[in-house]
Amino acid sequence: MVKIENVSVTYSSINARVKALEDINLTLEDGRIYTIVGPSGSGKTTLIYAIAGLLKPSEGSVLIDGEKVVGPSRNMAVILQDFGLFPWKTVEQNIALGLVIRKENPGKIKAIVEDILDKLSLKPFAHHYPGQLSGGQKQRVAIGRALALSPSLLLMDEPFSSLDAFTRENMQHELLDLWHQNPMTVLLVTHSIEEAVFLGQEIIILSSSPGKIKDIIPNKGWGFREGEWYYKTAGIIRTKLMEYIK
Ligand SMILES: Nc1ncnc2c1ncn2[C@@H]1O[C@H](COP(=O)(O)OP(=O)(O)OP(=O)(O)O)[C@@H](O)[C@H]1O
Ligand SMILES: [Mg+2]
Repeated sequence: MVKIENVSVTYSSINARVKALEDINLTLEDGRIYTIVGPSGSGKTTLIYAIAGLLKPSEGSVLIDGEKVVGPSRNMAVILQDFGLFPWKTVEQNIALGLVIRKENPGKIKAIVEDILDKLSLKPFAHHYPGQLSGGQKQRVAIGRALALSPSLLLMDEPFSSLDAFTRENMQHELLDLWHQNPMTVLLVTHSIEEAVFLGQEIIILSSSPGKIKDIIPNKGWGFREGEWYYKTAGIIRTKLMEYIK
């Protein structure tokens, strides 16, 4: 279980101080999928960084299974907004990276990487470098690298934003398939209301300046892209977002 307790984050630089998050309290139950929506600048990426241990909150703390987060941990995988790929490593090597760091057996690494290349349709690019890929292909490599770790906590910052509509829907289904096989805790940031409602068992809405949690909407109709519940929930979120952007 992830517990975020009274977390505030203020960025300070020579000429400015920006309060990116204010008094965030949130519990992520094990094996559930949470989506976060909120205007640009509402602190979504900052929240992901704080949970991942990539940034120390100015106030409050993040606890995973009761232990305070002080840095990235083994059971967690993060997909960052800018992909975070190593340009000097091939697609295959980028996907294998976390497993190599964990010193997994080479045969096992090879099998996992093969499976992921296949699932994410990246086989033809296995020996390419990130500089030779499109934005959407890079994004899929970043997703592959995270999934290779079979994490119990998966933090994703707009992971499907560079994908075409068709690939995006495929990836959303792929994520749900993987989750059904191994129900990890997922926190996924998105700007797409449709994606938030399709994937999120709970939908967290942030408002900006400073970022605060405005609502957490339970979504019993997750996993469906149509129907009365879907349209009703999407409508509620749209209205709330418009209110918070004003
Ligand atoms: N390193 C930094 N130094 C100073 N200010 C920062 C830094 N990173 C983010 N900010 C500020 O903190 C606020 C929250 O930023 P953050 O990137 O978390 O927003 P976001 O919700 O992820 O936005 P987007 O939807 O555009 O990705 C913004 O006002 C941003 O300008
Ligand atoms: Mg962001």
